[in-house]
Amino acid sequence: MLNIQEVKKRFSIFQNQPDLVYLDSTATSLKPKSVVDKIREYYEEYSANVFRGIYPMSEKATMEFEETRTIVSGFINANSSNEIVFTRNATESLNLLAYSLGRKILESGDEIVTTIMEHHSNFVPWQVLTSEVGAVFKIIDIDEEGYLNLGINNIKDQKSNIKNINQKLKVLDQIITKKTKILALTYVSNVLGTINPIKEIVTQVKKINPKIIVIIDAAQAAPHLKIDVKDLGADFIVFSSHKMLGPTGVGVLWGKEKLLKEMYPFMYGGDMISEVYIDKTIYKDPPHKFEAGTPAIGEIIAFKEAIKFLNEVGMEKISEHEKKLTRIAIDRLTSTFGGEIKIYGPRNVDDHNGIVSFSFGKYHSHDISQILADNGICVRAGHHCAMPLHTRLKLPATVRASFYIYNDEKDVEKLVEGLKKVKKILKA
Ligand code: ALA
Repeated sequence: MLNIQEVKKRFSIFQNQPDLVYLDSTATSLKPKSVVDKIREYYEEYSANVFRGIYPMSEKATMEFEETRTIVSGFINANSSNEIVFTRNATESLNLLAYSLGRKILESGDEIVTTIMEHHSNFVPWQVLTSEVGAVFKIIDIDEEGYLNLGINNIKDQKSNIKNINQKLKVLDQIITKKTKILALTYVSNVLGTINPIKEIVTQVKKINPKIIVIIDAAQAAPHLKIDVKDLGADFIVFSSHKMLGPTGVGVLWGKEKLLKEMYPFMYGGDMISEVYIDKTIYKDPPHKFEAGTPAIGEIIAFKEAIKFLNEVGMEKISEHEKKLTRIAIDRLTSTFGGEIKIYGPRNVDDHNGIVSFSFGKYHSHDISQILADNGICVRAGHHCAMPLHTRLKLPATVRASFYIYNDEKDVEKLVEGLKKVKKILKA
């Protein structure tokens, strides 16, 4: 088990705010001291640009920068660090794919499939692209418990959840066709916490259409679950540093090298070219082809400290810890508030990452989160950048508590106590 007190000691924020109850890691995680120190080291000791200078400071910055690429590559078991492209965030990685891949391969009449549980960043780029090209935008629905309606009979723990809840719902075997060029779906829902069975989905859709490109939004998975890109079998995976203990301003796009090579560049400019003439330009190979302009150097350098921290704690332990807290939170909230609280997402915590979204009585989610905030508890309220999902659930908003490696049962208890206060204040 994780020793939470030892973990907390490595985050300066808990020395500065010992009573902090931070339950919003799904929005962004806290940062350990090792990450902050590494950013400072870059700015104080070798803050030169990368790939440009041949003086020692620039060489050191370049070496540290590329070391992060190697560590990220190892973290997800990529074939080569050439498959790791640095972007600003998962959103930019997905927009890059819509632009550089989507605009290259999509034709009128083709299809892109996504799901109703996507974050806007894995929904809007595909909605816009299909509308521009005259392609079809198809959406996989969810069932009552927050599982995808997959229509696959051999997926663990989903057997009882694949019955259609109305005639509109389509199963995967029907929704994916030979015209489906891209399936873009999330690994973990940022609202429901549902962990989608990615490996099984990839296997199934590639059987239906071997040419399909599968893109995984792993923004809520990479911080919490062990990711092995070879095992998952997808073509592209994206995630963000700032949700996994690292700095803001750094995203990752992992892609199969052959596909990265075939794609259009995303932005044109410095450092992505190998030769420029008056009449033509020759681009560098990936990943540099996609990294025009000066990147977030200090932040990318410091990102590796976040990954070292995660590796030191161990992804399996992190995931077990979060499952335990999810179980405790669901049980405590339900036993305390009964039918007054409605929690969304799978009841089986093996399929439910450490995100507990709920509605509480008739109280508005923003009022709830304001009163929790007044009591030192940080949660997020709103549609969490997932409006289609909230519309599907017939909800304007939810309250979301999310757990990470620095949370423990005491935080769950404080949430329960905070909600008792909410009830008292809003009932008065
Ligand atoms: N994508 C982040 C969230 O779900 C910001 O809160």
